[in-house]
Amino acid sequence: MDVLRHVVILFHIVGFAVTFGAWFSQVAAREFRFTRVMDYGIGLSLLTGLALAAPWPAGIELNYPKIAIKLVILLVLGAILGIGSARQKRTGEPVPRALFWTAGALSLLAAGLAVIW
Ligand code: HEM
Repeated sequence: MDVLRHVVILFHIVGFAVTFGAWFSQVAAREFRFTRVMDYGIGLSLLTGLALAAPWPAGIELNYPKIAIKLVILLVLGAILGIGSARQKRTGEPVPRALFWTAGALSLLAAGLAVIW
């Protein structure tokens, strides 16, 4: 069970890598667009995060305030990606820059909270 939990944590971290990697590749390309890959990343973070939020194997202690804050951050990030993507599709233009930087900052904030708190 310990190994299984660690495997789920690995995929949870892959979710962050996919989200932040997709976001950073847009910075590097100077395109500043939201992409489907970012949605896949937060989808993976959410699914694996919810699986990890259950206290298994028995006896493990979880930091629920931290988990709740990360869930809120992920929901806000999902809303920002949804709003930005819809607007991007409608106008054909990249998302407003403030929205774009906020998305990257929230992704990094969630990962920072996870490892530093
Ligand atoms: C963008 C969103 C998220 C990011 C970037 C993120 C990042 C991370 C990282 C890097 C870890 C490994 C840290 C460590 O083991 O020291 C972790 C662990 C964990 N995350 Fe997330 N997370 C996110 C969202 C969520 C959500 C939405 C939930 C639950 C609803 C969640 C629940 C957990 C749990 C339970 C652990 C394992 C803690 C443990 O077993 O010690 N995460 N997260």
